[in-house]
Amino acid sequence: MAAYREPAIKTSFPAFKKIVNSRRSVRKFTDEKIPQNVIDDCLDMALAAPNSSNLQPWEFYVIQDETLLKKFVPVCLGQQAARAPVLVAIVERQANWRDVAKRILREWPGGQPPKIAKDYYSKLAQVMYTQGPMDVLGRAKKVGLTAAGMMKPMIRGPVSSADMDVWAAKSCALAAGHLMLAFRAAGYDSCPMEGFDAVRARKLLKLPGDATINMIVSAGVRAEDGVFSPRYRVPREEVIRYL
Ligand SMILES: Cc1cc2nc3c(=O)[nH]c(=O)nc-3n(C[C@H](O)[C@H](O)[C@H](O)COP(=O)(O)O)c2cc1C
Repeated sequence: MAAYREPAIKTSFPAFKKIVNSRRSVRKFTDEKIPQNVIDDCLDMALAAPNSSNLQPWEFYVIQDETLLKKFVPVCLGQQAARAPVLVAIVERQANWRDVAKRILREWPGGQPPKIAKDYYSKLAQVMYTQGPMDVLGRAKKVGLTAAGMMKPMIRGPVSSADMDVWAAKSCALAAGHLMLAFRAAGYDSCPMEGFDAVRARKLLKLPGDATINMIVSAGVRAEDGVFSPRYRVPREEVIRYL
């Protein structure tokens, strides 16, 4: 079988810069709705985010129903940013990895997965992501990896269910980033929120016990006074270290 090739197409960096630089956390939206096809396209952009081992430990709950939107305002602690025509709760589904691993092999694009992928998802990923009841396997792995790591570079985690939470959170946060940039690219705006009552939000979304809300992203049309202050960042020299 010929090796897969996907050329790097030409893109526009000025266009990307414009999108990134004009994306602000918008705390006030107009009443205008975002067309459904735009919401759907932006969600597709979120699904295209890089994610750990391609195990896609996420779900996206799109809230547009007026009654449910109203209920989310107090759950988001009355934040102005939550008064939006659409809210997207990005939900960590760390326990889904086993199913997704199977599906990747079964639904491999273009036919049979290569041996390296088969080995990865049916062997290595199983060892990496299984932590066992009360993290018993994770703890054993930690001992083994620490010992092996004395001899040579070695992956050190995840070795607990808490590590698995962080593992899923990384991928979900990248998806949130994609989603917000997609909204901006489409001419709309957004605000990421972690300021919400997680217990009440879970109840409203009827989430299963093993699901965690990573972030709620509100989106809509930026009101004239929707951005509260100019962007501030610590000077780049203080945080970017060229080695
Ligand atoms: C994980 C996370 C949680 C946030 N939670 C909130 C929030 O609950 N409410 C809010 O108004 N902004 C929230 N923000 C937005 C930040 O305050 C904002 O990104 C930051 O001040 C920088 O401004 P900018 O996004 O306009 O560049 C959050 C951002 C992130 C990444």
